[in-house]
Amino acid sequence: MIEIWQGDITTLAVDAIVNAANRSLLGGGGVDGAIHSAAGSELFSACLAVGGCPTGAAKITPGFKLPASHVIHTVGPVWRGGEHGEREQLASCYRASFACARAACVRSIAFPAISCGVYGFPFEAAATIALHESHMAYASGDFSSIVLVQFSEDGAKRMQQQFLKYQLGGHVSV
Ligand code: AR6
Repeated sequence: MIEIWQGDITTLAVDAIVNAANRSLLGGGGVDGAIHSAAGSELFSACLAVGGCPTGAAKITPGFKLPASHVIHTVGPVWRGGEHGEREQLASCYRASFACARAACVRSIAFPAISCGVYGFPFEAAATIALHESHMAYASGDFSSIVLVQFSEDGAKRMQQQFLKYQLGGHVSV
């Protein structure tokens, strides 16, 4: 199933959590900082060995001290007004993360709201992309659980609204 869940992604005991990283993969603030703190310094070493990640792509590491077995690191676009391929790059983050997950036999996966923090992507547009890509992945039958995590109560409410719109309206244009 596809689920909207409010809370801290680092507490989830799923096969993989997704990190909203930057191209260096060497940590940062927001969810990236929280994941690195909870996973421990071995995650930093593993990311150093990976050697970075382009925007829209994804790389996988173990979860180390996290309850999740793996971390899939993806790099969302910085919002620059919407005319620089930001929507396509964000969709690519979800697709690349699902591809990484399939290759590692991950069946349960949790995503934060990629690019919706310091990268400034408009929330409703990002939520629609997240929902659309999650529906496509779930329909493939490769995943038992896809969790869309919102850190704040307000984010969870807004995501729930988009979820209802998506279900009622079918394909919402991205
Ligand atoms: N669990 C779930 N969601 C969280 C958590 C958490 N523990 N902490 C924050 N969020 P952001 P971005 C939410 O800024 O916009 C980093 O420095 C947060 O409320 O973490 O993709 C990287 O290194 C927001 O809704 O990621 C990059 O440089 C969402 O996660 C840059 O930020 C994403 O916010 C990436 O920016």
